[in-house]
Amino acid sequence: MIVGRWFIEERWDLGKLVTFIPNKKLPIYSWFYFKEGFSRDFVHMMLDIFKTSKDSKIIDPFVGSGTTLLACKERGIDCVGVDIAPLAVFVSQTKTADYDIEKLKENARKLFQEKFEKPDLSQVSQYVKKFFAKPSLEDIIFFRERIRMIEDPAVKNFFTLALMNAAMKVSYAYKDGAVLKVVEKPVPPFRKFFKRIIKKMIKDLKKMSFKPCSIEVYLGDARKMDFLEDEEFDVVVTSPPYLNKIEYTKVYRIEYELFFEKIKIDPVRSYIGLNPKNVVDYFPELNLPEAAKAYFHDMKIVLEEIWRVLRVGGRVAMVVAGGVFPDRVVDSDILLAELAEDLGFRVDRIIGVNKRVATTKRVIKIGEARESILLLTKL
Ligand SMILES: C[S@@+](CC[C@H](N)C(=O)[O-])C[C@H]1O[C@@H](n2cnc3c(N)ncnc32)[C@H](O)[C@@H]1O
Repeated sequence: MIVGRWFIEERWDLGKLVTFIPNKKLPIYSWFYFKEGFSRDFVHMMLDIFKTSKDSKIIDPFVGSGTTLLACKERGIDCVGVDIAPLAVFVSQTKTADYDIEKLKENARKLFQEKFEKPDLSQVSQYVKKFFAKPSLEDIIFFRERIRMIEDPAVKNFFTLALMNAAMKVSYAYKDGAVLKVVEKPVPPFRKFFKRIIKKMIKDLKKMSFKPCSIEVYLGDARKMDFLEDEEFDVVVTSPPYLNKIEYTKVYRIEYELFFEKIKIDPVRSYIGLNPKNVVDYFPELNLPEAAKAYFHDMKIVLEEIWRVLRVGGRVAMVVAGGVFPDRVVDSDILLAELAEDLGFRVDRIIGVNKRVATTKRVIKIGEARESILLLTKL
């Protein structure tokens, strides 16, 4: 398909690979359900296309649930992940840590030997309380406090993630797009359920085999990765937040309130394209909606940072999607390709992998929002 001066390869068969769905069945990859994530197989496909080896160094500046890191760990390739969301950093660190299985088992035994004492729920907000039956919430807070006393940080994170999963499974929370709804349902006894999740996670660790390498995760902003050296990386595999899509912090409010009480999330810093100051409109001829102008303003800065940390000849795979607005669809793949080219990247391929008909008022077709993989080379 030709759009303007660009050739878009049509590989609708690859659509599933850029979703989290294939990860749902995989050990460790599935430890946190991240709707906005891509799959292990996508990362492996990109690592193959880019002919990476054990000597390569990879970065994912929007690491999300850590899929890029974990795939690199399977191959023994050094990888760095960056994310602005503390929850994403926590999940990525926990999924990629090295564990002593006997130590985990020992801690699990101790945890379940503890005698239950009713915890104080006064610090839990009314908002969070709506999503739980009282006995479940009491169990969750009881275990949370016990887990906080574990000294080894990796072990502590492991049990916190298990608890978070168990908590969300027994909650009445239903993630409906970017909104959390209360949907009451019968819930299983918490302890039994929590125990089962821990057992499964330990089993997962035995199922996977990893090769030695360095995996680092930073809490940081892809627009300003000043903790990373120039030309440090060979390959970028990533997917930034999509234009005009999902507000990440809101759907994870329960996890944040229960497990990261001290962190106050600053929404302005949490996304790409939300209220940057002095927005430069890179496409004045298109008369883009304000949100799109702000998005491309920020993404240009991200591309500059990617340029800086990549070595000459370094490669980029970036999954992006078109933004749907009331009057039109904005082709993010093409506009990002234009920005990348202006910076000196070569646009090697634009591969369309998903398309969704966009309508206004559910009747009038206004266009097709395309999800694509953008492949670039730093010249
Ligand atoms: C589409 S998700 C990435 C999903 C990831 N590929 C995966 O498979 O899990 C985008 C991620 O970017 C993060 N993010 C948003 N703004 C950011 C910024 N300015 N710097 C770094 N990360 C950011 C979000 O917290 C989210 O985790």
